[in-house]
Amino acid sequence: MTAWTLCIDFGTAYSKAAAAPDGAWARFDPAAVRPLMIGAHEPHGNAFLLDSAIFVDDARILFGRAAIARADALAGRKRMALKSFKTLLSVSDLDRALNTNAPLSIDPHRLFQMRDLIVLYLAYLLEAVARASAADPLLAEASRVSLRYAAPAWRSGDGAGMHQSIVRLFGEAEAFRQAAGKKLTAAEGLAISAVRTLLPKVMESARPLDMGLIFEATAAAAYTSVGLDDGGSHFIVVDMGAGTTDIAAIARVGSRMIELPDARVTLKQAGDFIDQIIANRVLDGAKWARSTEQKTELWTLLMRQMRDIKESVFEDGKAVLRHQGRTIAISLRDIEKDKDFRAFYKSLVDAYVHALTATRGDAAMRGQREVQAIPVGGGAAAPFIRELIKKKAAKQTPRVVPRPATPDWAHDRAFEGNLAPVFPQLAISIGGALAPDAMLAARGGFSPAAAGQTGIGAERD
Ligand SMILES: Nc1ncnc2c1ncn2[C@@H]1O[C@H](COP(=O)(O)OP(=O)(O)OP(=O)(O)O)[C@@H](O)[C@H]1O
Ligand SMILES: [Mg+2]
Repeated sequence: MTAWTLCIDFGTAYSKAAAAPDGAWARFDPAAVRPLMIGAHEPHGNAFLLDSAIFVDDARILFGRAAIARADALAGRKRMALKSFKTLLSVSDLDRALNTNAPLSIDPHRLFQMRDLIVLYLAYLLEAVARASAADPLLAEASRVSLRYAAPAWRSGDGAGMHQSIVRLFGEAEAFRQAAGKKLTAAEGLAISAVRTLLPKVMESARPLDMGLIFEATAAAAYTSVGLDDGGSHFIVVDMGAGTTDIAAIARVGSRMIELPDARVTLKQAGDFIDQIIANRVLDGAKWARSTEQKTELWTLLMRQMRDIKESVFEDGKAVLRHQGRTIAISLRDIEKDKDFRAFYKSLVDAYVHALTATRGDAAMRGQREVQAIPVGGGAAAPFIRELIKKKAAKQTPRVVPRPATPDWAHDRAFEGNLAPVFPQLAISIGGALAPDAMLAARGGFSPAAAGQTGIGAERD
């Protein structure tokens, strides 16, 4: 029986989780790393991804894919799923933001505060993690499982306070999960009446969940460095997700990996921001869409297909969409002309150059000859990120070596073709599970009793 570490990556668009047995960092074996199929209970979509979404319906609360589908069906009626709520956690006055009522389009009954909805979603996420852990034959044998979560290093100020708030939210979520159980992952979601009875009761007695914190970019860098056969001393990582773009670097010093704090930068623009740019450009160009109704319909269609639109645009330079007998073309070149995109790209270049200078400086100081550069996150496929890495790949030492976002082992047959397409998105949870304690931004004390209580351990169903 082995002790395991499990890292949850609560993402703006998708949540992910992975586990690794203790000691996997020192003796890396890809087969021992377990990306978890936390979306396996969903009928569609990739099993490694769980949509970060919650929908307050007439009488029920829906989660994940069901939440998005229901919100889409009701889009004309100004009803919305709560999505991208992770970005809320970056505001300076977190408690105030959490105590705000959810907007009417999200909660027409005026029953819930933002805190309630986030706790409910996290309970759903924890239940999905528990299910996936129990279904994993290796993890199911674990003697204990310690938990971590990944978060962007978005705060310059009160990082410790932030950690306390997050583990409290997770603690409330875990208390709710224990009370609500398997119903959380049922397609029909939960009855609002039951939630209203249960939630205040469990929140009252909830204790913070015992979790460590690892910064997302550190986790991504951790994975990349351990995954490399030929070692390497310095790594710079560009993680463009949905809500933030994080750049960070780590260095191998003797047998230790250290993060280079000077190289860490977070931009508050990423995939969601590009979605807005694309949708706005299409709407501006669609002169035929005059009425509010037509515009809403087109916007909804674009948002529903945005992930696929971006995939085509990033891969082929263009995407074509059909809507009511019309053909809508979207090109990368057009997006790159956009004023907002150009401003974002400029800050991205500045951030990358800043981080790279710090990383190369450290490498030079330590007599190292190379810096490995890796794109991760859903944005890893973006040509402008790949080109930026290539363009700034200095010829003089320390050289910059661009690395692929997806390692060969992600193509292993055991993953049935599901892992490789989303590997860059999973890199953070995998790195977060592998990273040694020294890389954590906050440690979670571990007690076997606490792990038993969380139920994340495999012995529980
Ligand atoms: N193949 C792809 N091509 C283009 N964009 C993609 C692709 N796959 C995912 N995305 C986009 O990547 C984003 C999701 O990436 P990821 O899962 O890394 O984000 P996240 O972890 O939810 O966000 P964050 O890290 O900012 O909290 C979405 O904007 C999605 O549309
Ligand atoms: Mg992410």
